[in-house]
Amino acid sequence: MAILDVIRERRSVRTFDGTPLRPEDARQILDFAAAADNPFGLPVDWVPLDAKTTGLSSPVIVGADTFLAGKLRQTPFAEAAFGYSMERVVLFAAARGIGTTWIAGTMDRGAFEAAAGLRDGEFMPCITPLGYPAKKMSLRESVMRRGVKADSRLPFSAVFFEESFDRPLTEEAAGRLRDALEAVRFAPSAVNRQPWRVVVCGDKVHFYEKKNKAQSGGWDVQLVDLGIALCHFALTAQEGGLALSFLQEDPGIACAADTAYVASYAVCETPDLKKEKHIQQHLNFPAPLQQAAETFEV
Ligand SMILES: Cc1cc2nc3c(=O)[nH]c(=O)nc-3n(C[C@H](O)[C@H](O)[C@H](O)COP(=O)(O)O)c2cc1C
Repeated sequence: MAILDVIRERRSVRTFDGTPLRPEDARQILDFAAAADNPFGLPVDWVPLDAKTTGLSSPVIVGADTFLAGKLRQTPFAEAAFGYSMERVVLFAAARGIGTTWIAGTMDRGAFEAAAGLRDGEFMPCITPLGYPAKKMSLRESVMRRGVKADSRLPFSAVFFEESFDRPLTEEAAGRLRDALEAVRFAPSAVNRQPWRVVVCGDKVHFYEKKNKAQSGGWDVQLVDLGIALCHFALTAQEGGLALSFLQEDPGIACAADTAYVASYAVCETPDLKKEKHIQQHLNFPAPLQQAAETFEV
C-alpha cells in the first residue's frame, strides 16, 4: 500500500473490538518502533503496557488491552523528534490494520508515567492504545470526532505559502511537492488544531509552528504535531522519488508573533533506482533491512 493511501486512510481509533493484540503484531510493532529514528537524532524509548495487569486506562478508549508509551530526554525539539518517530509507528500499525490514537491529555498522566518508568530528565509526551478497530464507533467517540471536526482539515492555501507568509500556495503551483504537502494536511494533531505552516522557497521547504494553544507542563504538544507533519512530508516525498536533506537554519522569513520556525527540508530529485528502495523502506519489515536501505538523512 502506498504511504499516501495509508496516511489518507488512517484515523484515530478509540473503539476496539476487544481482541487482545496478537503476540506477532506486538513483536513487529515493538521491533519497528525500536528502529524508528527521526531527523533530530533523538532516540525514543518505547514501553508496552498491559492494561489488565497495570490497571491503566483512558476514558476515551474502549476495548483495547495494550498501550504503547514513548519517553525520551527533554532536550530542545524533543517533542518534534517524538512526533516524527511515533508517527512512523502509527503508520506502520495502520498499514497492518492495527488501530491507534495519539493521547496526550485524556489519561491519568501520573499513572502512565509511573508505569512507563519515567526517569529524571525524561518526559513522556503521548501514549497510544494498540488493537483491532471495532466495526462500530462508540457514541462517545462519534461525539468527540464531531466536537473537534476530526474529518476536516484546513484548506491547502491556508497552511502552505510560497516565499513569504503573504503568498498562499495553490495545489497547482505546488507541483512536485503537492502530494507531500497533502500528506501534511492529512496529519493528526492535538484537538485537530493543525498548527503546521509551511513556506516553500525554491528547493527549500520551511516548517513553522503556529502556537494557538497556551503551553503547560513544561513542554509543547504542538511541537509534537510538527514532528508528525515532518514525518508525513518526508515519507511521501521520498516515495514520490524526491531526495531530502534535513536542516534547522531559520531562513529569517517575516512571520507573526505566534508563529515559530522549526525545521526545513531541502529537496532534490532522485534516480528511479533509489525511488524503488524508498517505496520499500517505510512500511515494510524487518526494520533492520529498512535501515540498511536508508540512504538519505531522514
Ligand atoms: C499530539 C496529539 C495529542 C492528542 N491527544 C489526544 C487525546 O488526549 N485524546 C484524544 O482522544 N485524542 C487525542 N488526539 C487525537 C486528535 O484529536 C486527532 O488526531 C484529531 O482530532 C484528528 O482526527 P484523526 O486522528 O482521526 O484524523 C491527539 C492527537 C495528537 C497528534
